[in-house]
Amino acid sequence: IFALQENQGHTSWIVMKYDHVKELLKSQSFIKDQDKLFSTSARDKDEGEPNIFGNMMLDVDPPDHTRLRKLVQPSFNPKTIKQLAPRIEQIADELIEEMKTKEGSFDLIDDYAFPLPIIVISELLGIPVEDRDKFRKWSNTIVAASEQEEGDFLEDVQAFTQYLTELFEKRSNQPEDDLVSQLIQTQEDGDKLSRNELYSMVVLLIIAGHETTVNLIGNTMYALFEHPEQLEKVKADHSLIPGAIEEGLRYYSPVDFSTARWAGEDMDFHGTTIRRGDFVMASISSANRDEEKFDRPEAFNVERERNAHVAFGFGIHFCLGAPLARLEGKIALEKLLDAFPNLGMDTSTTPPAWRRVFLLRGLDSLP
Ligand code: HEM
Repeated sequence: IFALQENQGHTSWIVMKYDHVKELLKSQSFIKDQDKLFSTSARDKDEGEPNIFGNMMLDVDPPDHTRLRKLVQPSFNPKTIKQLAPRIEQIADELIEEMKTKEGSFDLIDDYAFPLPIIVISELLGIPVEDRDKFRKWSNTIVAASEQEEGDFLEDVQAFTQYLTELFEKRSNQPEDDLVSQLIQTQEDGDKLSRNELYSMVVLLIIAGHETTVNLIGNTMYALFEHPEQLEKVKADHSLIPGAIEEGLRYYSPVDFSTARWAGEDMDFHGTTIRRGDFVMASISSANRDEEKFDRPEAFNVERERNAHVAFGFGIHFCLGAPLARLEGKIALEKLLDAFPNLGMDTSTTPPAWRRVFLLRGLDSLP
């Protein structure tokens, strides 16, 4: 664990080791809802303009977290997700058809890794796929908030809010067989979901669906290109693809850091004094390369045994979308390697560059 910075009497910490990361993520001494520490007012009043960030389940503790997670968990259970396989395969096929028209050269991120999960999450939620350029912009603005001009950020947040207000009205009048209609129904039916929680839930799912699985597909393929002997193994035996996906998750973790926690009390954390109100994050990438946990952690090995990485987090906030991301990753690689037996990285242009976004690890492009 090391201190990042001090601010107004509080220290920000990053936890690095595998065991410590797991302990942090499951400990009830670290809490998500900073209002409990720093503010006396209740969080959600549903007054004024809708607040798209106010009440994400990722930012709250039980019992609110338990209530919110229960509302969406059934839609993301492995069994429910498995039923999406034929549709995911179809989307992959359609994208590959497009790629084949590009005369042997395409961008794996823009043409494949990015659109695939977006189309899936859009259909699952019931947001029009044709609006996906807007969502990409809004989603990017939000995850890169600290690097944006404040005016641009507020403008995009307003546009996003307005878009959802109109969508919710439409689905309220004319429900469809999708998750947004279901959540609106829940909100209208009773006290299980406040208005701001509805906005926050949909925004969280859109962002999670936009910013993560693209990295899983892109990073795993990049790691395979960097390790040609591993790529050859996977090409020869597609039953190694799930192992490659798990190793991709560990080796180039798509989400670099957990979201923030706050210390709910003064404590000694493995020899370091942490004070109530201190900000603490877990370095997922670092935990996933901890030499005390993983044999030869710097090696990319699609046949790694007992690959108990923490790429999806740990504890009650463990990634809701993990079964979906794993299925999308598996299908994406199977279809890609089938369609392009001679697939390789185009090294004639500039080398692929990591996106400069805090929290996430992913490539801008992969020719
Ligand atoms: C939570 C990673 C894909 C929805 C998390 C967390 C991690 C993570 C590390 C925990 C954060 C923390 O505790 O601070 C990933 C990775 C993905 C992925 C690596 C892809 C490779 C998805 C997808 C969805 C999703 C596709 C939904 C469509 C969520 C939600 C939470 C979450 C809703 C919050 C859960 C809660 O608070 O209980 N994810 N995620 N994720 N993820 Fe994912």
